[in-house]
Amino acid sequence: MAPFQIRRYQDQDWSTVRAIFAKGMIQLAVVNFRHLLKQPGTFLLLLGGPGALYLFSGSSLLSLLALLGLLAILWLAARHPFSHYINHALHTDMWDIRASYVNDRGSCFWVAESGGQVVGLVCARPAQGMLVGPNYAELLRLSVRPEHRGQGIAKTLTQTVLQFAREKGYDGVILVTASLNYPARRLYESLGFWKFHEAPYSPKWSLKTFSLIYYRYDLPHSS
Ligand SMILES: CC(C)(COP(=O)(O)OP(=O)(O)OC[C@H]1O[C@@H](n2cnc3c(N)ncnc32)[C@H](O)[C@@H]1OP(=O)(O)O)[C@@H](O)C(=O)NCCC(=O)NCCS
Repeated sequence: MAPFQIRRYQDQDWSTVRAIFAKGMIQLAVVNFRHLLKQPGTFLLLLGGPGALYLFSGSSLLSLLALLGLLAILWLAARHPFSHYINHALHTDMWDIRASYVNDRGSCFWVAESGGQVVGLVCARPAQGMLVGPNYAELLRLSVRPEHRGQGIAKTLTQTVLQFAREKGYDGVILVTASLNYPARRLYESLGFWKFHEAPYSPKWSLKTFSLIYYRYDLPHSS
């Protein structure tokens, strides 16, 4: 495995970091879909709907089409919250990264580079209206290319944010993740983040299959 290094974002990283972020997030849609398929209600729907159709019509082709149609609808429903989130990010802070993270002293954007290639990213900015005091940084957009995972890159990127928050005099760092994102939750908890809030994720037109977990890391004040 090639070693990696962390450096600040540069303008030529723009399309790569956006692609890594979007790919990492859309993978969570697959996790959400699997989670949805394991729900008893989903099981009943997939079995009952096409089954009833078969009993009434006697057509196995029709019931197979109904099953495929239901699966497609469930996939779109599982994907929706993540595609919505990605679209929003790509058209706001991830559109003008320089303005959002580079020009502001309290914000920053880092990439992990390996073999001359950007393989991961993370950023930090002042937390706004996120259930904590005013002097917290928010960690966001953490993502690592699938083929470079398991090498400690996300851990180092997160530690970079903690160090930045320390240097900038923040009281701590907060972040939000999906309850079903177990790799990320394990990473944050192993670094000392603790869950302080949980809220159902329920935007319009979305199934309530997961919640949002709020984590924080409080930095000790040097006196
Ligand atoms: C979550 C993610 C950032 C982890 O990146 P990574 O570089 O593979 O993570 P690291 O190698 O630094 O792992 C550090 C720790 O995280 C946890 N972890 C990482 N991947 C894990 C997995 N698949 N299963 C369980 N724990 C995992 C472990 O505690 C690990 O420590 P260990 O190796 O000593 O057990 C990566 O899987 C990713 O990009 N996922 C998609 C985007 C995403 O979910 N981002 C977080 C949004 S809040």
